[in-house]
Amino acid sequence: MILAIETSCDETCAAVVEGSQIRSSIVASQAALHVRYGGVVPEIASRRHLELVGPAVRDALHGAGATFRDLRAVAVTAGPGLIGALLVGVSAAKAYAYAAGLPLIPVDHLHGHVASLYLQPLDLQPPFVCLLASGGHTMLLDVRERAGYTVLGTTLDDAAGEAFDKGARLLGLGYPGGREIDRLAAEGDPTAYDFPVARVPGLDFSFSGLKTALLYKVRELSADELAARRADLAASYQRAIVRALVERLAAAGGDRIAVVGGVAANSELRAALPEAALAPLALCTDNAAMIASAGRYIRPVPYPDYLSLDARATA
Ligand code: KG4
Ligand code: ZN
Repeated sequence: MILAIETSCDETCAAVVEGSQIRSSIVASQAALHVRYGGVVPEIASRRHLELVGPAVRDALHGAGATFRDLRAVAVTAGPGLIGALLVGVSAAKAYAYAAGLPLIPVDHLHGHVASLYLQPLDLQPPFVCLLASGGHTMLLDVRERAGYTVLGTTLDDAAGEAFDKGARLLGLGYPGGREIDRLAAEGDPTAYDFPVARVPGLDFSFSGLKTALLYKVRELSADELAARRADLAASYQRAIVRALVERLAAAGGDRIAVVGGVAANSELRAALPEAALAPLALCTDNAAMIASAGRYIRPVPYPDYLSLDARATA
């Protein structure tokens, strides 16, 4: 069994995974703490991680019916993410590894998202082309082996999840915005507005123009009009993001495709890709089970080498 800790953003997560089986997965969301600011406040996130990481690990072990003796390693997200938030997880993981006499496995958060596909019930085998769409990243990946991937395309500006979050903010919806737009879009007409998505060369993405287009539309409307058209705006905006993602996936070719990351929870995107391997809903947004899953394919770092291991903010 591997114990994993994930604290890259605003969710304090711990999980125990045995092979491809999730024994327990604890996700303590801080969303309620950040909602009044309309986004994650890094310093607040770090402090909250500090309070929650111990209980999360304890709950994960308890939920798995495991003790430290049952573990072969401690895995932890080393980056990318908010540096102060990552540091809490990395420091905690070092302490647990040292106390339990276990090696440490540093995991790349993006590799973790891909590895959400390697857990039951999917247990997906490469090769496949993977769309990773989260709040921080939007990438097309060529996955040939479970230990890694090569990047085919990435966003030139905003990530798809960021586009959802910023769009939700413009529409006066809550944070995090993706789920709110998803929900509201179901009541709206996706053809009401024509939001174009920039076409950039190759397999890259661009979403900043779309956000600006929504801003201009919102500015044209009075408060009453906005209230009346909010669902149509959400539906049309979501349609544009989904279309851009699906088009790029098609352009990448590949016989088998997969979708991971928070945006993979989007109902319209899931419906648009009936053939794709889709990460289960609970594993789309951040969690530690996916970090443990990736950890299975990374060489553990023994004591005392892992003491010098650092968190890193960027990919
Ligand atoms: O993977 P994730 O939990 O964290 C990062 O690594 O960034 O992704 C969070 C992102 C947020 O931008 C959130 O708005 C988006 O995923 N998201 C969604 C949905 N659920 C979460 N976007 C669209 N539709 C959803 N149902
Ligand atoms: Zn993530």
